Amino acid sequence: MATDVHRPVSPTSSTGSPGSPVSAAVHVEGLTRSFDGRTVIDALDLDIAPGEFVALLGRSGCGKSTLLRILAGLDRDIEGTALVPRRRAVAFQAPRLMPWKKVWRNVLLGLPGRPERSVAVRALDEVGLDHRVDAWPRTLSGGEAQRASLARALVREPDLLLLDEPFGALDALTRIKAQRLVGELWQRRGCAVLLVTHDVEEAVLLADRVLVMDGGRIAHEQRIDLDRPREITDPRFAALRTGLLERLGVHTAAEAA
Ligand SMILES: Nc1ncnc2c1ncn2[C@@H]1O[C@H](COP(=O)(O)OP(=O)(O)OP(=O)(O)O)[C@@H](O)[C@H]1O
Ligand SMILES: [Mg+2]
Repeated sequence: MATDVHRPVSPTSSTGSPGSPVSAAVHVEGLTRSFDGRTVIDALDLDIAPGEFVALLGRSGCGKSTLLRILAGLDRDIEGTALVPRRRAVAFQAPRLMPWKKVWRNVLLGLPGRPERSVAVRALDEVGLDHRVDAWPRTLSGGEAQRASLARALVREPDLLLLDEPFGALDALTRIKAQRLVGELWQRRGCAVLLVTHDVEEAVLLADRVLVMDGGRIAHEQRIDLDRPREITDPRFAALRTGLLERLGVHTAAEAA
């Protein structure tokens, strides 16, 4: 797996391929990011194994998106080291489709070379959007636009898929379908995934490991050893959810009673 190293932006540092292969999909060490003297990420360490599905929880403003943007290579103003696969893709809460390009052209946007339409059609087929290949983005529903955004990530054949609250704006039913789709795509593709979410249930449903970010670091981690597909009615599921909610400072009804 070809990797990129993100190191502090300075005249002596560079972004490029390290000399030796690494066994982790993501290796972050002593990562620090400050805005106007305020430290948001504070000497954070994180490893993600190839093919591992990791969910990242944490209160609003704790630095989840900042971390994701750094891993995506969109923010290089950092201290410490972030090692990520060269093949990586990112999808955000808003699908960010270009309104003046048809769906299939949006899917291929930014890909090197001159990829053929069939590449986009295959990815759109994979997310169940083969009937909207020639549609304009404004004619898509919220769920369809989000699936187009996923297709755009998939054509990059990522070793690391970064997802920042990709289901946040969807209604409950569409959200369940989209979660299921991401679970299937991950199992089929075998890439590592880092999913930022506010939804504890979503995290326990999908992830191998759930992280809670606080104070600029990974403050807690929980391995999820339940078989897939997971049932939210499973008592072990409920116990994991309750434990994580407590970590987030949310007290459940059972506790309050
Ligand atoms: N470019 C920037 N300039 C200044 N401050 C920033 C910038 N980007 C993020 N921040 C600040 O860093 C903190 C972390 O932001 P971030 O977007 O990473 O939070 P988050 O955990 O993703 O929150 P949410 O769950 O609400 O999306 C916030 O206080 C935010 O205001
Ligand atoms: Mg965010």
